[in-house]
Amino acid sequence: MKVPYLDLRILDKTHKEALHKRLEAVLAHGRIIEGPEVQEFERRIAQRIGTRFAVGTGSGSSAIYMALKALGIGRGDEVITTPFTWIITVNAIAATGAKPVFADIKTDFNVDPKKIEKKIRPKTRAIVPMHVGGHLCEMEFLEKLARQHGVYIVEDAAQAICGSLGARRAGSFSTIAAFSMNPMKVLHGYGEAGVVTTNSERLYGRLKKLRHAGTRQDPMGRHFNQCDFISLNHKIDTLQAAFLLDNLDRLESIWHKREKIAKRYDALLGGVVELQQLHPDEVHGRYLYLIRCQKRDALRRVLAQNGVETKIVYSPLACDATPYKNRRSLSMPVSRALLKQSLSLPLHEKMSLAQAEFVSKTIIKFFAKE
Ligand SMILES: Cc1ncc(COP(=O)(O)O)c(C=O)c1O
Repeated sequence: MKVPYLDLRILDKTHKEALHKRLEAVLAHGRIIEGPEVQEFERRIAQRIGTRFAVGTGSGSSAIYMALKALGIGRGDEVITTPFTWIITVNAIAATGAKPVFADIKTDFNVDPKKIEKKIRPKTRAIVPMHVGGHLCEMEFLEKLARQHGVYIVEDAAQAICGSLGARRAGSFSTIAAFSMNPMKVLHGYGEAGVVTTNSERLYGRLKKLRHAGTRQDPMGRHFNQCDFISLNHKIDTLQAAFLLDNLDRLESIWHKREKIAKRYDALLGGVVELQQLHPDEVHGRYLYLIRCQKRDALRRVLAQNGVETKIVYSPLACDATPYKNRRSLSMPVSRALLKQSLSLPLHEKMSLAQAEFVSKTIIKFFAKE
């Protein structure tokens, strides 16, 4: 049975028609840049996350970079983050001029707050936790740590739009949070997009400038050639905002389909491989389904021979990427162990339960033979 890791086609006729209508509406009103859909998208995202403000961006990369810049982070500052992340988390820190400092993870793949605590120094300005695969970091511990040491939290919530802890959603635990809405994400556009959320009106004003080359607006709201910050173009397209509005309406149904697949994996694979452990009051964002096991490479080969696509995240660790690896070599034992043992299984809304069962049975058979 073929089980693709991802399937970005739009097969549902009603959905396709809805997107065509969105496209036609944008072409008809002609406000291709900063059109009304952008504001509506931002209003709905802020409402969903539970923050006062949201600013749409051209990508999740722009979102995390702008979040750090809005806080004035730059040269001479240190920002603590995880090595077990997509490289953008670290590149965004380095692009501000600040120094990324790495703290090891725990066996749930998320950064270890106790390791963060050990790395806090007078130069530390912020902590950037990343919710791996949509599983939330220990945010209450991190909030306490941030308060104690007077540092900011900037959540890289790129993978966690549907994740929450108790009554709070991912993105509501930090001074600023960044989300990605690229085509692979649970809430996705059909091109690049992202969003930044915050409760601070001052930061909201800065983010709106940063998105638009750092420029000011005249009384009519038009940006002119005077800039307060050095920045580039980080604007979201009206068209992507329009498509995202449509997918926001479908988001709960997308998440439920992914949750069902994940629960079937849980039921069949628990006790066979190690599963990502959740907090008691957590809703997992269901971006990735990660397992840990011995003989990972042999298992991956057998899955591939049976038509199942899988992925290894995140290789090499961000701390071993060329710009960062020449620093004093970093041990990061848990990250290194998990990089060797972990595998990301197919998890998307176009998968059937039969496919999830086939993947699970192939894994069970593999370990029965071992
Ligand atoms: C953890 C993390 N941070 C940042 C990003 C960057 O988002 P984008 O691809 O929208 O620029 C991603 C995207 O995959 C991500 O997974």
